[in-house]
Amino acid sequence: MSGKLIVIEGLDGSGKATQAEALVRHLTERGERVRKVSFPDYESDSSALVKMYLRGEFGSKPDDVNAYAASSFYAVDRYASFKKDWADFYNGGGIVVADRYTTSNAVHQCSKLPREQWEAFLNWLFHYEYDLLGIPAPDRVIYLQVDPAVSQRLMTGRYHGDESKKDIHEHDLDYLNRSRAAAEYCAAALGWDTVDCTRNGVMRTVEDIGTDVLALAQRS
Ligand SMILES: Nc1ncnc2c1ncn2[C@@H]1O[C@H](COP(=O)(O)OP(=O)(O)OP(=O)(O)O)[C@@H](O)[C@H]1O
Ligand SMILES: [Mg+2]
Repeated sequence: MSGKLIVIEGLDGSGKATQAEALVRHLTERGERVRKVSFPDYESDSSALVKMYLRGEFGSKPDDVNAYAASSFYAVDRYASFKKDWADFYNGGGIVVADRYTTSNAVHQCSKLPREQWEAFLNWLFHYEYDLLGIPAPDRVIYLQVDPAVSQRLMTGRYHGDESKKDIHEHDLDYLNRSRAAAEYCAAALGWDTVDCTRNGVMRTVEDIGTDVLALAQRS
């Protein structure tokens, strides 16, 4: 009896951590056995290569590390987390809510490749992580769609206006725009559930978005 894996996906600063936490709270209140995981797992040594990459040790631009290499850094971090932390809970029937997952590689690494290579890349990615590494495939992916101008404001707010705190992804607006195109492509092509988090150029409230997220999660 394997459990359920619900992934909260979205571009940088779209509210993934906030909604993953809210969803765990809502499901717990309803008596479900549920826990949250988040990626990258910065607390673990398994994220060492991700940290080196995001700090720019392999090059100051995201494009300096190709989609397959960068994806591998993130994939092994997920493998380590699954093996050490949540395999037993999941295999025992628990519900796991993930703040980012393999789907983040889809969003952030597709954008490094020409569009005609996206399908082949995605096939490779999911085969690699779910079939070869053997970590679970999600039962549902909930994509938090946020107007890019709004998410940039949220992120600048989080760093209290200090632009130097942003990592190499967050700094590169062109890259972020390409990631947005990739995210919309993935949401459509892979059957992700999209929650529109903005109304008239402003963010909906956490509670309001959370209601939609819970409704989708309960359909899984
Ligand atoms: N609906 C909302 N309205 C206003 N602010 C929000 C909302 N959701 C999240 N925030 C705030 O926006 C910021 C980014 O949210 P959060 O950390 O949850 O996003 P994230 O997608 O996990 O970000 P990252 O991609 O950087 O990990 C936080 O400061 C959070 O408190
Ligand atoms: Mg986050």
